[in-house]
Amino acid sequence: MTLPQPPMSLLAELTHRCPLACPYCSNPLDLERKAAELDTAGWRRVLEQAAEMGVLQVHFSGGEPMARPDLVELVTLARKLNLYTNLITSGVLLDEAKLDALDKAGLDHIQLSFQDVTEEGAERIGGLKGAQPRKLKAARLIQASGIPMTLNFVVHRENVARIPQMFELARQLGAGRVEIAHTQYYGWGLKNRDALLPSREQLEESTRAVEAEREKGGLAIDYVTPDYHADRPKPCMGGWGQRFVNISPSGRVLPCHAAEIIPNVTFPNVRDESLAEIWNNSHLFNMFRGTEWMPEACRACDRKEIDWGGCRCQALALTGNAANMDPVCSRSPFHDIVEKAVEQAETPELVYRRF
Ligand code: FES
Repeated sequence: MTLPQPPMSLLAELTHRCPLACPYCSNPLDLERKAAELDTAGWRRVLEQAAEMGVLQVHFSGGEPMARPDLVELVTLARKLNLYTNLITSGVLLDEAKLDALDKAGLDHIQLSFQDVTEEGAERIGGLKGAQPRKLKAARLIQASGIPMTLNFVVHRENVARIPQMFELARQLGAGRVEIAHTQYYGWGLKNRDALLPSREQLEESTRAVEAEREKGGLAIDYVTPDYHADRPKPCMGGWGQRFVNISPSGRVLPCHAAEIIPNVTFPNVRDESLAEIWNNSHLFNMFRGTEWMPEACRACDRKEIDWGGCRCQALALTGNAANMDPVCSRSPFHDIVEKAVEQAETPELVYRRF
């Protein structure tokens, strides 16, 4: 049997604990508690096994990864193993001493999230009072440290008009890269879809703002558009079980951050088996790998090895079966679900995520 290529990136979700309460949180509906989290030895084992497999990058994420006191130790080990290290953080727990320790540990890159450019907008989405000044302070500390920084803005109906100011802020703070990511409606985010989904006009306006900024140059820009306005699905995670592996706080090994909604599957755990064994041989990772599992229409499609069938978690959430065609695809018999959602988007109250 030919073994799959090893994953390129590993997302280490060190904890689900987070001081923010974002309504678009893509973590699962049932968050894992602190008592269930892998301990330091468990995470060290994961990093060693990942390096042995040939993984190139590790993204320390959460929740808020800075809530873990062993973060510096894990970054130090990852660097020793020659893994590229990225910290994905909200910045609200970052101070000078912690940043200095991370810098000394060899941290390669920080992705700092902002909920908005205005204090009011940031508090409304993040649900944490005083978050914006703390984030700005964190960004200035990172800028002064010289660690390469990406600013991440999740955009939606309420803040999409402020994309030009987001770029302005990124330039002021010395970020080399900006990610403008339209909200994706997985996990908790699906609960708030009708309140957050932008109109087609808003989407077009946001695309124009991104293009105008690209023309100016000097800033690398990643732009993630909202699935619901597309007619071809995105290759979620670069294809199921092909490039990315997620480890949940308790050590579950997943092909994507939302996969825990897949029913009737045993989720493999690094406490029981090696990462390589899970990646190569587990039922979960082989369920939707490649093209054999696809419905006939997808198998006959010339894009089958471009979009890899789209997003399995979205197919499950919207149609009740993860093996169905992604409803985002205009050729899917379920495409009307997405079209109706776009028409019905309204302004109900936000449902906040509290740990
Ligand atoms: Fe799970 Fe897209 S989020 S496959």
